[in-house]
Amino acid sequence: MTLVWPQPKTWNGKELPRILTRLFDVENGHTLAVAKQHGAYSTISKTLFDKSQFEIIQTVIESGLRGRGGAGFPTGMKWSFVPRNTGKPVYLVINADEGEPGTFKDRLCLTRDPHLLIEGMINTGYALGVRTAYVYIRGEMLPQIRALNDAIQEAYNAGLLGENIQGSGYSLDIYVHRGAGAYICGEETALINSLEGFKGQPRLKPPFPAVSGAFAAPTVVNNVETIMAVPYIVQHGAKAYRQWGTDKSPGSKLFSISGDVHKQGVYEVPLGMKYADFFDLAGGLKGEILGCIPGGSSAPVLDAKESMEATMDYECLAALKSMLGSGAVTPFNTTRDPVTILESIARFYAHESCGQCTPCREGTGYVNRILQKVAAGQGRDGDIELMKDLAESYEWTTICAFAPGAAWPVLSFIKKFRSHFDAYLAKNPQHAAGRDLKSLTPAAFM
Ligand SMILES: Cc1cc2nc3c(=O)[nH]c(=O)nc-3n(C[C@H](O)[C@H](O)[C@H](O)COP(=O)(O)O)c2cc1C
Ligand code: SF4
Repeated sequence: MTLVWPQPKTWNGKELPRILTRLFDVENGHTLAVAKQHGAYSTISKTLFDKSQFEIIQTVIESGLRGRGGAGFPTGMKWSFVPRNTGKPVYLVINADEGEPGTFKDRLCLTRDPHLLIEGMINTGYALGVRTAYVYIRGEMLPQIRALNDAIQEAYNAGLLGENIQGSGYSLDIYVHRGAGAYICGEETALINSLEGFKGQPRLKPPFPAVSGAFAAPTVVNNVETIMAVPYIVQHGAKAYRQWGTDKSPGSKLFSISGDVHKQGVYEVPLGMKYADFFDLAGGLKGEILGCIPGGSSAPVLDAKESMEATMDYECLAALKSMLGSGAVTPFNTTRDPVTILESIARFYAHESCGQCTPCREGTGYVNRILQKVAAGQGRDGDIELMKDLAESYEWTTICAFAPGAAWPVLSFIKKFRSHFDAYLAKNPQHAAGRDLKSLTPAAFM
């Protein structure tokens, strides 16, 4: 896949934001020397240490910045939950696992502008009283790990990390921790377990990490992109950030688009833009649209009409019973087959379930096996209802949000593209024999 860059400076006569991507198309923008020429770390030398910790948290609350890892939780509010003066350290952990299928924005950030992440971590660390911070990164992202480690070393050499940063009295160390590559390790409590050296499986919440996270101490887990927005907010203020986006979804966001468009890649756009305009920005749709996954594989799919009418903000997608998620957009055209798309998504979730909760472990496996049979033309009447029942049975009955994220594609694809599933059943001459649900055993699906 080509990561098309640079994106146009304006779109439909309006300037596009460059909060996160300012250096993406600057030659050697990932190096400290070039990044500094373009204003990197100016929050440290000019603004950061003039402000109190409270002021910074308040500014981030007022900016309306929401977490870009998937759930869209208000960032400043999360920070305000961190208890003070507990006698324990406060940890900051950056989530660079980026495992959601279709998502490839954070890895671009880490190679194109790692210093913006480090600057954001210093801003955030200072506001929260953090002495030690981690970046948890997917182990196979070798170019990203190298770029980040090089940038951290440059920052140490320049006195931007370590003891007494720029004579401010504030000290911060950053460690890069490589994960072994499991989707569930992107879930914040599984990530913390993995960081501590345990099996990467989610913990029961509460307690939430902000109260008791890494090493049983208060811990803020934030996505790469979330923290990269912080320097702009600290430097220019909440109002400047709010010049983009909508009232409830302010600012800009990175969207990674793949699927049936001509220029797949990562783009920074204001929240609230229409998906239809975004498809045009990405070179236009290939063929006639059938549907779109609007925010990563967990996000319920939209049909053609919804895809062309929806706007890229948290509220619109919630109203459509979907979500903005990680910002991975995948439109597909009428030459694609929704059944095989769902089959590949379901295979992924069955493989990635961590296995702690019975409904998730067993249910995702059953759905996967039924779908494989349906896609192979061996489906029978009752299979579609059975898949729906199974997905509903693990949607809200487990420890973590993996299970609802695995259920939503199943439920939404069946709802939006039912006729495609029925057509597959009709391919099986035996389909009308149906299933005897009472005699159903796991072996029936093997
Ligand atoms: C199964 C699962 C996988 C996740 N994967 C990621 C991920 O790869 N990157 C990420 O930032 N957040 C991921 N999240 C969300 C994190 O749990 C957490 O909400 C996020 O890192 C918080 O950061 P934010 O508030 O800045 O978004 C995942 C959640 C679940 C349930
Ligand atoms: S819901 Fe699935 S992934 Fe999450 S803890 Fe339970 S078994 Fe593991």
